[in-house]
Amino acid sequence: MESAIPQHLRAERSQPTRMREDWNPPSPAFSARFPETIESVVMAYYGLQYQGERPASARDAANELRRQIGEVDGPVHHDVAVAIDPAGFTNEITALYWTDAESYRRWSEQTLAWTDPQHEHGSVGRFVEIATPGVRDFETIFGGRRMEGVSVASDGIGGEIAEHGYWGSMRDRLPSAQTADLEPDGRLRFEQDGDLVVVHPHDGMTLIRSGQDWRGTEGEARDWWASDIRPVLQEGMEFLTAQGNQIGCYSNRLMQIIDDGGALVEKTYGHGWWHSLRELEDWSRSHKTHLKIFGAFGQFVKHFRSAAGLRLYHEVSVLDADQLRFEYLGCHERTGLLAARS
Ligand code: HEM
Repeated sequence: MESAIPQHLRAERSQPTRMREDWNPPSPAFSARFPETIESVVMAYYGLQYQGERPASARDAANELRRQIGEVDGPVHHDVAVAIDPAGFTNEITALYWTDAESYRRWSEQTLAWTDPQHEHGSVGRFVEIATPGVRDFETIFGGRRMEGVSVASDGIGGEIAEHGYWGSMRDRLPSAQTADLEPDGRLRFEQDGDLVVVHPHDGMTLIRSGQDWRGTEGEARDWWASDIRPVLQEGMEFLTAQGNQIGCYSNRLMQIIDDGGALVEKTYGHGWWHSLRELEDWSRSHKTHLKIFGAFGQFVKHFRSAAGLRLYHEVSVLDADQLRFEYLGCHERTGLLAARS
């Protein structure tokens, strides 16, 4: 058993851990391990937004992005996912990951910025939501050894970790939380210039990508996922998407991964921007929607005595304003962080 916090990021705690001294987690879990030379990673979400049929300009923009991904200094990993939002718009989001902020900067400067108003955007909105956490500012957890998201850019998955299976373990896995309370500071500010809205972030904002991959399930486990777990996941995500603002969730989407041909893959992820880590913790441990999700999964694991091919993971970052960028061009007023304006 090892700590989720790698040796080189361990610090003398000024903040308490929530883990009991004799803690023995009920099931195995793992964290991604990054080379010690890495200082920060880039998690860039590039979005396209449209209503109804996918317009030709959205297709062209997606193709152009795909071409750029293969260029020098391109991302180490990316995936593409879609969600239809409550306003009925399709949001097509490419998540791009780098382990070097300089490569990202060089790559992004090769072409017109994604949200530059000079794009012929017409009926297609464009947005970027970009986080550049230092290695101390994020944590990952996986139920198995298959990698997703930022971990694909890592050295691989480490050994079994101790800090999981109890409320508060997410904070215990975060290197920065050893010495900081991670309380937020400031508030969002919105700057509109024609069709472009730039959202100025504040310190302590929290990003979660919480993923589910059910490609490996079969038979009864597959049916159970479809009838008992997926619907409660959808319910929880719908709550956060529609009403999350009341409890500190600025933006939430339940994304489904698509393949190169645009077909849906049996993988989803909840993507949420929060006012603070504290409010994300509060929702997960006390709100009926996550408790229902958590309970449904508990029954499933008890019945099958394992995760039965269902693979779960998450990555959580707590960020300061200078590690974030949000821009929305020609998007509707409830898109992403814009929903927090009203
Ligand atoms: C099928 C979907 C999901 C299942 C089965 C599930 C289940 C779980 C389980 C078992 C844990 C405890 C993990 C551990 O420490 O060992 C957990 C923690 C957590 N989950 Fe979920 N979850 C799901 C989706 C989500 C989503 C979509 C979000 C938010 C976008 C979320 C937010 C959290 C958070 C923040 C924690 C950490 C709580 C803490 O350590 O203080 N979960 N979840």
